[in-house]
Amino acid sequence: VSLKPFNTFGLDVLAKRFISITSESELIDALKNETDAPIFILGGGSNVLLTQDIDSTVFHINIKGKSIIEETENTVIVSINAGENWHQFVQWCLDHNFGGIENLSLIPGNVGTAPMQNIGAYGVELKNTFVSCEAIHIKTQEKRRFTKDDCNFGYRESVFKKALKGQYIITSVNFCLTKHKHVLYTDYGAIQSQLELNGINKPTIQDISKAVITIRQQKLPDPKIIGNSGSFFKNPVVSNDLFQELKDNFPEIPSYTINEDSVKIPAGWLIEKAGFKGKRFGNYGVHKNQALVLVNYDDAEGSDILQLAKLIQKTILRIFKINIETEVNII
Ligand code: EPU
Repeated sequence: VSLKPFNTFGLDVLAKRFISITSESELIDALKNETDAPIFILGGGSNVLLTQDIDSTVFHINIKGKSIIEETENTVIVSINAGENWHQFVQWCLDHNFGGIENLSLIPGNVGTAPMQNIGAYGVELKNTFVSCEAIHIKTQEKRRFTKDDCNFGYRESVFKKALKGQYIITSVNFCLTKHKHVLYTDYGAIQSQLELNGINKPTIQDISKAVITIRQQKLPDPKIIGNSGSFFKNPVVSNDLFQELKDNFPEIPSYTINEDSVKIPAGWLIEKAGFKGKRFGNYGVHKNQALVLVNYDDAEGSDILQLAKLIQKTILRIFKINIETEVNII
């Protein structure tokens, strides 16, 4: 089976076997039957770089459905299954005027993988509205509920990428959303200017979503047209000492304060400064509007994109003495 339709990079790698899972009981049965360990779990395929054929069984998590499980005067708790598309869920919330995830509009991928890396954009992270999730342990098929604390969320991080890596499959997620008194996050510069441009001074959650969609469409390539996985690297956090040293050489270097001792630097800026922005190497390259995004123009090999990523990492280390980590999972 070709995995090309199942990864947003559009890489044409083959899987030995492919099972589409549409319910929790199907998942448990399939795991019990699976002797071909280790299995390969695929959600929306929006955060993987497939560099070779998969010599095991691919479990495509395609469990659909959502429901409101609790309601108070101003909040709802929505339970949503792992196989639902993230952006369609955001749109459903906006149609019902449920607030909290509008800044996360247009993020590719599915609901079930969103907690894995605590997806975030424009001042909001998944953890802000996350209540809990249910997951099945791959080896024992035991079901477990993870609270927000259990998940140990950080910047593009969770327990599912660290201590429990490869052990659980998330089947559903609960979010707590607002019904009327929405808390708006409009601090992000690009959102403010887009709202102004749209002539809006008292934004609704729908206005914020529209602004975010416009900004993303300007900067980020649509995976349906040009294969990509969003930000390929994480923004690095560096010590104040190194930052001061860099500032002497590059006075215009942008940064966000993290705490007294460290600052975060946009990797996109480093990559652009290193000369990679918009660089094309045959059928793959670095996106022209956002240097943090690597792209597959047409039938590139995952291994070529990986080589490019390594070259970028090496160059950034040489010029800035900074190690940038990949955000995307390399397979
Ligand atoms: N920049 C450059 N050149 C570039 C790209 C960025 O100089 O080619 C500079 C910009 O000028 C700006 C700064 O870097 O000063 C930040 O850029 P931007 O607002 O585009 O955000 P980012 O840090 O590059 C992060 C997330 C995105 C998220 C945006 C908005 C990471 C790794 N990426 O990007 O997330 O949408 O902020 O919140 O944290 C993703 O994870 O896939 C993703 C797209």
